[in-house]
Amino acid sequence: MCGIVGYIGDKDAYPILIKGLRRLEYRGYDSAGVAIIGKETKIYKKKGKVNDLDALVKENDVKGNIGIGHTRWATHGEPNDTNAHPHTSQNGKFTVIHNGIIENYSRLKKRLQDRDYKFKSQTDTEILANLIEYIYLKANGEIDAEQAVRLALSKVIGAYGIVIIAKDEPDKLIAARKGSPLVIGIGDGEYFIASDATPIIEHTNSVIYLNNDNVAVIKKDQLTLKTIAHDKLEPRIQKLTMDIGSIEKNGYEHFMLKEIFEQPRSISDTFRGRIAADLSEIRLGGLHKVMPKLEKAKRIIIIACGTSWHAGLVGEYLIETIARIPVEVEYSSEFRYRRPIIYKDDIVIAISQSGETADTLAAINIAKESGATVLGICNVVGSSIPRETHAGVYTHAGPEIGVASTKAFTAQVTVLTMIAGILGKSNKQLSDFNYSRLIEELVEVPKKIEEILKHNKLFEEISALYKDATNFLYLGRGYLFPVALEGALKLKEISYIHAEGYPAAEMKHGPIALIDENMPVVVIATQDNSYDKIVSNIQEVKARNGKVIAIVTEGDQVIRDMADHVLEVPKSHEVIAPLLTVVPLQLLSYHIAVMRGCDVDQPRNLAKSVTVE
Ligand code: G6P
Repeated sequence: MCGIVGYIGDKDAYPILIKGLRRLEYRGYDSAGVAIIGKETKIYKKKGKVNDLDALVKENDVKGNIGIGHTRWATHGEPNDTNAHPHTSQNGKFTVIHNGIIENYSRLKKRLQDRDYKFKSQTDTEILANLIEYIYLKANGEIDAEQAVRLALSKVIGAYGIVIIAKDEPDKLIAARKGSPLVIGIGDGEYFIASDATPIIEHTNSVIYLNNDNVAVIKKDQLTLKTIAHDKLEPRIQKLTMDIGSIEKNGYEHFMLKEIFEQPRSISDTFRGRIAADLSEIRLGGLHKVMPKLEKAKRIIIIACGTSWHAGLVGEYLIETIARIPVEVEYSSEFRYRRPIIYKDDIVIAISQSGETADTLAAINIAKESGATVLGICNVVGSSIPRETHAGVYTHAGPEIGVASTKAFTAQVTVLTMIAGILGKSNKQLSDFNYSRLIEELVEVPKKIEEILKHNKLFEEISALYKDATNFLYLGRGYLFPVALEGALKLKEISYIHAEGYPAAEMKHGPIALIDENMPVVVIATQDNSYDKIVSNIQEVKARNGKVIAIVTEGDQVIRDMADHVLEVPKSHEVIAPLLTVVPLQLLSYHIAVMRGCDVDQPRNLAKSVTVE
């Protein structure tokens, strides 16, 4: 969603803010803006990318040591200059940047309109700025800016991460969080604030993560932390472990390509320290305290959105076959609103790259209220989901900046494979032999992905043949059905080609009607239990003149003779196949999108972290 950045100290604020906004642009990129306190407060905002804002600002004077900046992903009101943040209250007393949604905005707006407030934009943020100002002015000098902010927030229903400049108190930034993340970086006589750590890491690695209902008042040499209800809090300073290289492109044309190529390393990082050196055991320290419950679980419910939901589906196949525990996989957004039946001894696993997805957070709360044990599988350390869950496992894939998720998916599937292995072993469903085989296969994955990546040129050549297609069908069976869904999602997200993922056998109940010589069909057909069946499905496609791009086990001559193109992956056990077969699909969609001239890292209308419902 939106990206927030702020600076207070002795340095020139603008260069820090604009660089921070560039780092945050993956969170939202329909418009951007800054407010800088110099001799007076200057505000610049612009529809479009951060570069468009920079071009506007460079024509002007932006000297000042305190400032805030924002990249927007529109919720209320179309992307335009007026709706871009920051928003200033009617009498200019408060300037606000905001990530999240004010749910009772229409009621608040009406009340303010009744009191002669006029609104320039269509945003909920402008209402918040005016609400704070109304409360402040009404108190007639009896309260300060911070009190006005806290009083206003006590009337707000919704989610927010906000940073505020107050005209009458220009030596401070006021920040508050409920639902949408904010991190404060502590420098030497200066503070940084941002919606995630990426703009902060190059300045300091000492940070404070705001919790829900926290309000921080930040001066250049002093920080005070309170609850909205005015209880004083002791800030908890943490150290960031992220390195700056991990948030730069390092010579790759796009973050997505870099992240695809990082997978051998990111998967090793996911199992590093968790698989015994002699490959005898998998240990997940984060689950230690819940293991007795997990081992006794009669049911596991996985909740997630987007690509993480696809990883959850792979998890269902893994846990059900390896550990024989029933698993249900739910979209968080459906789960939270459909009054799900949850038992106290259920284990709910929330999967999320960002750890901030609003629907998943809401679904976690419902599961917790029902007494279930809730675990998280997340990538971003210190994000909200790991803090809201009873226990969990970090994927340690490193920052994922490309909006289309790649290395986070393989890291999530790696964790789920480890969980399935541990549960299978403790349930005695896996014989010792299979347990060792699973571990051996898992540690071989990085090397096998390196092999796949060597064929990048071939993937690019095949992509060139299909870049103008208007539809794609992706087919897979068993473990490879979720991979088909993920392949189709990747293509849709970044190339805007319509694509559908289907269980291969279901094709004959509908999608087969679409097949003709213009329909590329990507079939994920590595050698596993359903190999013969999927070979028949390929024949069904060929009989209707469809073009088949098959992902096969290396050396597969049978499918090579049938398909139009084959992309080979090294031989593996079927439970490992999702981790390998997804890689050619990621590259296929990447190359097609690049050839179509699409903005691969920032596809239209999408956001990396969806902090609104
Ligand atoms: C957005 C992103 C996807 C991601 C999904 C879930 O739609 O663009 O890449 O899969 O959110 O996000 P999460 O952070 O919860 O995994």
